[in-house]
Amino acid sequence: MTTASAPGKIILFGEHAVVSGVTALGSAIDLRAKVTVQDLSGSVLIKTKELTLQGFSLDLTSGRLESAQAAHATRYISAVLREFDVKDIQVCIDSSLPPAAGLGSSACIVVAAVAAISAHHGLGLSLREIAEISYRLEKNVQQGLGSPMDTALATYGGYLQISQDIQPIDLPPLEMVVGYTKMPHDTKSEVEKVQDLKKRYFELVDLIFQAIGALSEKAVPLIREHNHADLGRLMNVNHGLLMALGVSSRELDELVYAATGAGGALGAKITGAGGGGCMIALPGAAGVDALMVALRQARGVAFKVVTGCEGVRLEGDL
Ligand code: PMV
Repeated sequence: MTTASAPGKIILFGEHAVVSGVTALGSAIDLRAKVTVQDLSGSVLIKTKELTLQGFSLDLTSGRLESAQAAHATRYISAVLREFDVKDIQVCIDSSLPPAAGLGSSACIVVAAVAAISAHHGLGLSLREIAEISYRLEKNVQQGLGSPMDTALATYGGYLQISQDIQPIDLPPLEMVVGYTKMPHDTKSEVEKVQDLKKRYFELVDLIFQAIGALSEKAVPLIREHNHADLGRLMNVNHGLLMALGVSSRELDELVYAATGAGGALGAKITGAGGGGCMIALPGAAGVDALMVALRQARGVAFKVVTGCEGVRLEGDL
């Protein structure tokens, strides 16, 4: 039996603008997906146990699907098994990340599965190979959509600065709170919406993108110098610009206002494509607990997270 785990991610600054080559800043977080593989003679069995759901299973040999969420996770695992031509195996997924929320749940399942199979079958894949294979597989399952950021963060961990290429950047950890709207988000349609706006109003949208890129760059020294007051201000500006691009929603805005109002956050913004999914908030003097209470009172699911966490790793036996 071999277990690997990989972290989810948040985008601190720069979503949407990054699609047009402007700088973004992403971070691995301490919510992880664990994938355990073990030999199982004569069949392929994939079991999933996700945060928002009770345990359920899917038997690929009988083709029985017991949940749409299981089918979602299974598409990624099946792609990994096909890639390495693995049969006679049981794969268990245990993820603390909500699926389709923009926290990189599918990327960390793919990365953890590739690493677990590499170790179990003695393939000796390097981190670079794990990142490349995982990116290709995730993109195939998502029919060509997907930036390399999620699989890179799940593999290497830490912080990544993304523009034309992806650069690791050494920054101290931040304690943040994620607020999940419980509304799934659709990255493809949000990206198309913004790119369509850019086609119609290039000068306006390009200015917004440039401003967002400047925020991503100005945030780096603030994180390094632990200047959370200014970092929070920049998060609020980034949220305003994402609202201007039309990717916020009532649920997201309610969580953002609850965070910076009753929650006492220094700043809050959407993380990821928007439309649903999650926002992030930087706790202020009132602390993490007050922030989590405020988000729950605004009907969100709140998670405490730490940024800059470790990438994919092998775990001891479950
Ligand atoms: O919500 P997510 O994790 O799918 O983030 C999407 C980030 C975008 O910038 C909107 C798209 C991208 O590919 O970078």
